Amino acid sequence: MGKKLQIDSILRPEVLVIGAGGAGLRCAVEICERRPGTSIIAVTKVYSPQKSHTAAAQGGMAAVDPKDPVDKIIYHMFDTWKGSDCSSDQNIIKKVCESAWEQILWLERHGMHFSRTEEGRIAKRPFGGHMLNFGKVKAFRACYEADRTGKGIMDTVWAESLKHGVIFLNQSVACELLFRNGRCIGAIVFMEQNGKFLAVLAKATIMATGGKTRMYQVSTNCRQNTGDGLALILQAGLPVMDLEAVQFHPTGIVGPGILASEALRGEGGILRNKDGEPFMERYAPTAKDLAPRDLVSRCIMNEIREGRGCVHPDHKLPHVWLDLRHIPEHVHRTRIQEVCGFFCKFVGVQPQHELCPVTPTAHYQMGGSPTNEFGEVQKDAQEVVPGLYACGEFAAASLHGHNRLGTNSLLELITMGQVVGERVAAYLHDAEAPGDLPQDAGSHVFSQFSRYLASRGKTHYAEIRDALRVLMMEKVGVFRNEKGLAEAIEKLKELKQMARHMKLSSRSLIMNQDLLQFWELDHLLDVSMVIAHCALARKESRGGHYREDYPERSPEFQYHTLAYMTEYGKVTLGRRPIDMSIFEARGEHYEKFGIIERKY
Ligand code: FUM
Repeated sequence: MGKKLQIDSILRPEVLVIGAGGAGLRCAVEICERRPGTSIIAVTKVYSPQKSHTAAAQGGMAAVDPKDPVDKIIYHMFDTWKGSDCSSDQNIIKKVCESAWEQILWLERHGMHFSRTEEGRIAKRPFGGHMLNFGKVKAFRACYEADRTGKGIMDTVWAESLKHGVIFLNQSVACELLFRNGRCIGAIVFMEQNGKFLAVLAKATIMATGGKTRMYQVSTNCRQNTGDGLALILQAGLPVMDLEAVQFHPTGIVGPGILASEALRGEGGILRNKDGEPFMERYAPTAKDLAPRDLVSRCIMNEIREGRGCVHPDHKLPHVWLDLRHIPEHVHRTRIQEVCGFFCKFVGVQPQHELCPVTPTAHYQMGGSPTNEFGEVQKDAQEVVPGLYACGEFAAASLHGHNRLGTNSLLELITMGQVVGERVAAYLHDAEAPGDLPQDAGSHVFSQFSRYLASRGKTHYAEIRDALRVLMMEKVGVFRNEKGLAEAIEKLKELKQMARHMKLSSRSLIMNQDLLQFWELDHLLDVSMVIAHCALARKESRGGHYREDYPERSPEFQYHTLAYMTEYGKVTLGRRPIDMSIFEARGEHYEKFGIIERKY
């Protein structure tokens, strides 16, 4: 006899925030600053919001200081457009880049400790693809707090949320979105600590569950980044956008792929192959090591493929070197101390004296849940879902198109968090109460969990998860082709079948890690299937999506991919136009925002 699954209680805040990282909490704070006393519940999968993935961000947040004598917002806008391989939305580029300095000041006013120059100004460092004069020389545009900028942001938004009385449901997951007449009215939340299901009914629901690259063998993402939010969106029959656009960060620490910040190259680090050659000069003569990530990752993989990489003796993985030995001691000590410590801890290397082994690592999703410029979740290219909002890495507005520039993620999550907060605060004025619990609330998640609890198979979920990670890395990784993608889709079907017969070591609902990992594995498989389909359909190369069989960008694919999947493996594709409003406005420098050549 199976356990009876039921909703134990109903909570009724005005706002439900799903995902309490940088974006979700920036949004919550904005709502509270505009509408003091708003009741907000924030759900986080982790033990405390401080463990959110935002806290792992290292290098900085891009912003042009209006007092900067050489940098200009228009250069930042151009770099973002060029970096995206002409597939980000220009209305979003304008909105985000123009508000960037304002966001830095907001963070500082709320207690963030940005690193400073000797003169007391906010310090800035260069990052890949950020340049002056429309691509001529590197720009100093990344504002940072040493090499733990994300931690500084989390400290700030978490403290502010607490001050405003945001209530946190820690170690809890939203596992089904609730709708009435097409409007989102909250979600079912499962609380790991007591094994109970709650219904949270809210006037507005904000999704900010971050990224999802744990389906890759080598990834910078925290273990919680398993695509749960995207899976919920797909289950609800809503689309996801540009999932083929996966970012591989060039420098993961060989082995697990822990982030070795681009700040290391911003501070002068040089990539070298096994012969000691600074090979980026060959591929990107102007930007060199600070070319955009998609390009640098492909160059590293190319060096490895052509026999100029090394193999790490412990991890047996190919890699190149990052040389930090020439960087002055005071820079090591004050600006890159933490990340250098990671090399020491995870691969036993002293970066001041030894070469550091690095390899491309799955880092970021440029796509996500499509939203309009106010963060309202779209159900197709025209219509939005009332009551449902999204921001941060989870959402695709889209600032990044098919390749994101480093430090534009923290900028985007803070800015769009603020934008969504403003929009929600206005919506709350006249939004109706969500009413009673819908009759079928919980039907999806209860059938999912009942299946897990009834599972009597022999396969351990980790076997399937590990096979998935190798598959995605090999066939849906930095380089892709038709044959590999088609094989990946078939293999993903097999893995999903295997996942129906897993071994569950305990049938308790309380703190049952197997149960939760079954649920996560289902999501990883769902999202991987959509990535593979989108990658197969896009027969061109653009940003982080590189097809060996179609190595050029093609005007035929000058649009965003929308993908729907309500039944596993049956993916339906649609399109959303790319906003080119800067180009179309024909203002100063408009020609820089056309379909431009992408050389560094
Ligand atoms: O390299 C880094 O520090 C990562 C920054 C980013 O992803 O924006």
